[in-house]
Amino acid sequence: MCGIVAHIGSRDCVPILLEGLARLEYRGYDSAGIAVLSRSGEVRVHKAKGRVADLAAGLPARFKGSPGIGHTRWATHGEPSDVNAHPHVCGPIAIVHNGIIENADELRAKLSVDGAVFASETDSEVLAHLIAASSADDLEEAVRQALTSVVGTYGIVVLDARHPDVIVAARNGSPVVLGLGDKEMFVASDVAALVRYTRQVVHLDDGEVAAVRADGFVTSTLDAQTTIKKPSTIDTDAASYDAEGYTHFMRKEIHEQPRAVERALRGRLDSRFHTAHLGGLNMDARQLREIRRVLVLGCGSAYYSGQVGAQLIEDLARIPAAAEPASEFRYRNPVVEADTLYVGVSQSGETYDTLAAVQELKRKGGQVLGVVNSVGSAIARECDGGMYLHAGPEISVTSTKTFTATAVAFALLALHLGRIHDLSPADGRRIIAGLHAVPGQIEEILAGEQHVADVAAELANAKGMFFVGRVRGYPVAREGAQKLKEVSYLHAEAYPASELKHGPLALVNPELPTVAIVPSDELFDKNLSTLGEIRARRGPVIAVAHTDLDPKLADHVIRVPKNEPELDPILLSVPLQMLAYHAAVALGNDVDKPRNLAKSVTVE
Ligand code: G6P
Repeated sequence: MCGIVAHIGSRDCVPILLEGLARLEYRGYDSAGIAVLSRSGEVRVHKAKGRVADLAAGLPARFKGSPGIGHTRWATHGEPSDVNAHPHVCGPIAIVHNGIIENADELRAKLSVDGAVFASETDSEVLAHLIAASSADDLEEAVRQALTSVVGTYGIVVLDARHPDVIVAARNGSPVVLGLGDKEMFVASDVAALVRYTRQVVHLDDGEVAAVRADGFVTSTLDAQTTIKKPSTIDTDAASYDAEGYTHFMRKEIHEQPRAVERALRGRLDSRFHTAHLGGLNMDARQLREIRRVLVLGCGSAYYSGQVGAQLIEDLARIPAAAEPASEFRYRNPVVEADTLYVGVSQSGETYDTLAAVQELKRKGGQVLGVVNSVGSAIARECDGGMYLHAGPEISVTSTKTFTATAVAFALLALHLGRIHDLSPADGRRIIAGLHAVPGQIEEILAGEQHVADVAAELANAKGMFFVGRVRGYPVAREGAQKLKEVSYLHAEAYPASELKHGPLALVNPELPTVAIVPSDELFDKNLSTLGEIRARRGPVIAVAHTDLDPKLADHVIRVPKNEPELDPILLSVPLQMLAYHAAVALGNDVDKPRNLAKSVTVE
């Protein structure tokens, strides 16, 4: 969602801000803006509804300066417009803000009594007025004073025309990262905006304020206690943030899956005891034996990969396991049990609903592990332990390689739990061999991309589609439908194949294709019966299967190599990603930035 980038140093910061904002585009936004301190010491602001390219194209002549702050905005309070875009200015103060100020109306009313006039409808502008109203001499203290009256979440960067040698950043619930350069410093909400300039970063914690100067930074708490921060090195190379010759990040990330799976597995398979080695769980075998139930929480694709994960845990460890949308869980006053293991799943590690669910669990004394891609993110830090995916940055809004890597991480967790319980060494060996085979098998599926693209081109004309799968195939179907909706905007609904005859079959007709997940497992014959039911109503069928099927049952078969039945969902999902991608391309959609969606949903 919203993105922040800021720079302080001797060079003109405008190109850095524009480049940084372009790097944050993938998160989703509807307007953008920058503010710089000009040579004559005045704050100059340029904002525009639409893309960063529109902002750059409309830049006034000689728009230069330093320091500077920039922002991409996803509208929450107030419609997307030039006026509501950030930075917001009040006198010498300019600010950019991510997050939501919950008591904005109250603060606005108070400030108005004192004569404040607001230009925008945003909650963020209130911050600029509060800081400008402070009587403190230095900017850091003014920011601190202002923040003491604020209720809500924020990641902010503030510029003050009276203090050209400093910018001040602060964080509460919305990420802020400092980038350390050579006689210059950067601030951003996401390392993606920084990797071109520096690999050395410092993540602010909630309740921290940073005074950032060209030659360094000082961090402190809201009550002015100095904090000590150790810089860390970004472990992914800058190229991971580039499309590297691919037309879209989504396709690049689909093709990165064999390597992403290898990274997720690296160093984690223990061939001696036929189990998984997961040092980050921070739970020993005895503690894990106490677990009676597993509940996986996540949103969107993270939730569906959690469903695959819950099934793996039940299959391999025989522990009752389920997945639930974190966005629902957090609002239903959940009963938190001491012997349940809760697992929060998130690519970004920032999704607010998932973070709130994890925080609610922690508050109630629940045991929470994180399965997270983004290192050092809020959810990762909030959990008691967990597993990083190591899938590398995922830029396309639609999750692909992190869905797969999450399912693989759950296979490792399930194997580990299984071997602590009753999974035999022979079965452990079988699963390890299966996991080793996954990267090569994904390569095989990717080699069949043209066939999937041809099928997708045909499906792109459909008005809607069903996705059906049984048991292990059901979360695969749900994720397939989600992918198609997200990028092709075609209506897609997923059902358990077994449920078709209990209602949705009424809709099957020659105009409504069904994508069916038909693995060669113990439910194969049941799935063939489902196909028969659909064909009897002349419904078109696209089957994702391990074998060729009777042409009477399916118009197209997309073949996937067979693995162990428990691991099959990981592979069955891959062609559905390609199907959604190619349908979206055939329809001419903006694949990497689908309408109405953001990569990290950091608001409620
Ligand atoms: C948003 C995105 C989805 C994503 C979900 C969870 O809704 O549009 O594609 O699956 O967030 O994101 P997370 O970063 O928590 O995995």
